[in-house]
Amino acid sequence: MTSRIKGFYLLSVEERIKLIAEQSNLTNEEVEALKSGLPLELADAMVENVIGHISVPLGVAANFKVNGKEVFIPMATEEPSVIAAASNAARAAYELGGIFTSSSGTVMRGQIQVLNIGDPHGARAKIFEHKDEIIEHCNAKDPTLVKLGGGVKDIEVHLIDTAKETMVVVHLIVDTKDAMGANAVNTMAESVSPLIERITNGRVVLRIISNLADKRIVRARGEFSTDMLGGMEIAKNIVSAYEFADADPYRAATHNKGVMNGITAAVLASGNDTRAVEAGAHAYAARTGRYRSLTTWELNKEGNLVGTLELPLAVGIVGGATKTHPVAKAALKIMGVQSAEELAGYIAAVGLVENLASLRALSAEGIQSGHMRLHAKNLAVMAGATGDIIDRVVQQAVEEKDFRYDRILEITNSLRGE
Ligand code: MEV
Repeated sequence: MTSRIKGFYLLSVEERIKLIAEQSNLTNEEVEALKSGLPLELADAMVENVIGHISVPLGVAANFKVNGKEVFIPMATEEPSVIAAASNAARAAYELGGIFTSSSGTVMRGQIQVLNIGDPHGARAKIFEHKDEIIEHCNAKDPTLVKLGGGVKDIEVHLIDTAKETMVVVHLIVDTKDAMGANAVNTMAESVSPLIERITNGRVVLRIISNLADKRIVRARGEFSTDMLGGMEIAKNIVSAYEFADADPYRAATHNKGVMNGITAAVLASGNDTRAVEAGAHAYAARTGRYRSLTTWELNKEGNLVGTLELPLAVGIVGGATKTHPVAKAALKIMGVQSAEELAGYIAAVGLVENLASLRALSAEGIQSGHMRLHAKNLAVMAGATGDIIDRVVQQAVEEKDFRYDRILEITNSLRGE
């Protein structure tokens, strides 16, 4: 199995599907699912008031080696260039070992908000006195998770000063293992609330998971060949682009948007909750009190670029759409993931590489030339180009540096008339 297939992008869609299906042992049904997407009956069972479904393209990022394993990473996105950029930039790490990842575990937080407390410090102490009872109560709600080694492991009690009062906020620290965990954590938080009320003599209102999953941190690291990225000047520009983002929230928002181009696409393809991951990522980026870069970029002594990414990644491989959506199931099989932590590692790897691809383009030729090529392709299809005419239209538009629809239409018509 290799993810490094020369000219992969030049293959036809059918050829690519065949290659991926062979490498990942996809069944005929799984191949069909990739081609046809979500059946309406399933859509109707997933959400309410269904009238159809909107598809976004699913591609695979090539050239990834993560923790020594060759892997094609499925990405679902409507944005041109994102998948190509990740695949290109991944090559610069491949020869130097690829991307390496680690994770702090699969632990989530559930929050229980307690109001009307006269003695918040006293209430906090009382909650800790009942810690074992609270944990036992919660774990009785999910024996399957406990059997798998998960469940509530600890509690924290935070005192939150607000304009009106000091709120007592209980955190359930729950190892959700291969599940994203929202269902397990929310069920526990709701069920234990009467006990918390009895202990504190307060009034519980909110009982919900926190998306700032700071006990589910994933780290990715890669060393990238400066030569393959275009030389030392570009590498230094990339480092200074990172320094800019880390110092300026206006730039950090766009810089991190580039990271999330990769992360969200991979999270969506795996059937996970993109909003949960995005909320966690941005909250984590602001954890020092200022919104900063999620990545770091440095030059090592060998003159290569070293990148790191660190963010919370609450993703699962059991439950929700990961188990019901046929395309998400095929995506997980393509990566051969065995655990939520392994999936999170691939997602982080894509985020790191995607960020590098953006910074490289911004530090050199700018992003418009790559974008315009794909934009021209879209316009050529809109103008009625098919088959090899599409590439010829794009080529001519690039040579003329003219990407107006009128001109693309003219070129298409003249080539079709040949
Ligand atoms: C565009 O989708 C993403 C970029 O703006 C990211 C960045 O500026 O780093 C290119």
